[in-house]
Amino acid sequence: MKQLPAETVRLLSSSQVITSVVSVVKELIENSLDANATSIDIKLENYGFDKIEVRDNGDGIKAADVPVMAVKHYTSKISCPEDLENLTTYGFRGEALGSICCISEVSITTKTAADDFSTQYILDSSGHVTSQKPSHLGQGTLDMAQQDVCIYMV
Ligand SMILES: Nc1ncnc2c1ncn2[C@@H]1O[C@H](COP(=O)(O)OP(=O)(O)OP(=O)(O)O)[C@@H](O)[C@H]1O
Ligand SMILES: [Mg+2]
Repeated sequence: MKQLPAETVRLLSSSQVITSVVSVVKELIENSLDANATSIDIKLENYGFDKIEVRDNGDGIKAADVPVMAVKHYTSKISCPEDLENLTTYGFRGEALGSICCISEVSITTKTAADDFSTQYILDSSGHVTSQKPSHLGQGTLDMAQQDVCIYMV
């Protein structure tokens, strides 16, 4: 037997969280609902196989959380095993955004009520921010996932 390389383990675990276009959309809608959004717009290019966009008018992501927002096992929703017994959110694993980054090219544009303007962040395959620029969107969050490797999405 041989131990799998870390990148292969990452791809395999991501493809257990993200099994289809539908699960990308489901995870992003759940994030919007957890952020108290009252409006969610979804755009699909080529039925979602080329590009998926989900935009909400929710709370947005705090600047302090941005560096880890798409890093696996970081979540704002639970902090200890006991919290699993009293879940009030759809998400709690801290895996969805990191898994989507692993199988597609992701950008996240977000603005909280405390921010003067929104910022668009480009993420790499491990969910780390590689660049950022100011944007014109209002409060909330826009997730854009462009297809990269579709081989793991069946
Ligand atoms: N649309 C959004 N609006 C506000 N915050 C968001 C949004 N999407 C993600 N976040 C923040 O990023 C974190 C990571 O999101 P992610 O979906 O990866 O994990 P999660 O929702 O905590 O758990 P799960 O993997 O079970 O969905 C969330 O905990 C939340 O704090
Ligand atoms: Mg989530």
